[in-house]
Amino acid sequence: MTRTRIFSGVKPTGHLTLGNYLGAVRRWAEEDQHRADGVFCVVDLHALTVAHDPARVRRLSRQAATILLAAGLDPDRCALFVQSHVDEHTRLAYLLECTATDGEMRRMIQYKEKAARERARGGSVRLSLLTYPALMAADILAYGTDEVPVGDDQAQHVELTRDLARRFNERYGHVFTVPRATHPPVAARVMDLQDPTAKMGKSQARSAGIVHLLDEPDAVRRKIMRAVTDGGSEVRYDREAHPGVANLLDILSAATGGRERPEELAGQFGSYGALKKDTAEAVVELLCPLRQRHAELSADPAYVDGVLRAGAERARAMARPWVDAAHRAIGLLPPV
Ligand code: AMP
Ligand code: TRP
Repeated sequence: MTRTRIFSGVKPTGHLTLGNYLGAVRRWAEEDQHRADGVFCVVDLHALTVAHDPARVRRLSRQAATILLAAGLDPDRCALFVQSHVDEHTRLAYLLECTATDGEMRRMIQYKEKAARERARGGSVRLSLLTYPALMAADILAYGTDEVPVGDDQAQHVELTRDLARRFNERYGHVFTVPRATHPPVAARVMDLQDPTAKMGKSQARSAGIVHLLDEPDAVRRKIMRAVTDGGSEVRYDREAHPGVANLLDILSAATGGRERPEELAGQFGSYGALKKDTAEAVVELLCPLRQRHAELSADPAYVDGVLRAGAERARAMARPWVDAAHRAIGLLPPV
């Protein structure tokens, strides 16, 4: 019996947020690595698709890896590594660029939004921003992945990955497993506390609406207490009419382990203030052990390096047979 294979990743483009944790990372640590063969990656190549500062990407890559360990990823149970350390990703990405069309790349929401933002600033759009989903598909397909645990915003990219896997298999013979995305039951899309119509994203310039995983407890409290709610005072779960309140209810439900649904929690609060207070305390409590463990681990960079070195070695061994098979199938002469 082969075990279920799970792959997921996080981009080192900013400090990790509560959205990353509730949407993705927490499940990797608490569930995925225990029930399946987990492969988790700091996808640094993806951080080069928009204007970047080399020293910052380097620093954030190490920080992201340290946070993933602090969140509970166990190097004895899963492979944890940095994408650029495993050449198989780019080796496969090119074959998938030869499988995808430019039309389907241009239809990606993330590309359309980021390209528009870049152009509005008078900047230019890197070609890699357009081809990004081919590299992401390579990340996933290189491991024969069955499941991809991600937040809602990545659903379209995983759907494209499925299309590319099927198309490749139809054209060249069966090589790839067709993976599927999995999302958490609540908080699959945590919204910005200052603008609850926008995703809480780590590369946003204004941080008042973003809870970072390493924020001090007082900063977490302040941000949540100042969250934008809306006219009205009755606490109801209605994502359309009251997105700010619904977001707080989602966060509270997820932070307290999902035992009570956001709709059920709504009835327990007489005011927005009371909801904010409980949500703030729940998030502080949730993040406290992670912050402490991060402080311990960052005092020992040699340990983190060792984990990443061993993780890359394991990942390479897992990916090579899949990528070699794809090279043969598509018509490339094996090295002689
Ligand atoms: P990224 O920050 O884009 O590298 O995302 C890493 C993972 O976190 C992906 O699985 C995303 O879907 C997830 N994620 C990012 N932001 C959020 C958010 N605001 N709510 C839920 N999940 C998120
Ligand atoms: N595109 C993802 C994001 O922005 C990060 C990512 C890259 C990823 N490769 C992946 C996620 C493979 C899951 C699987 O969040």
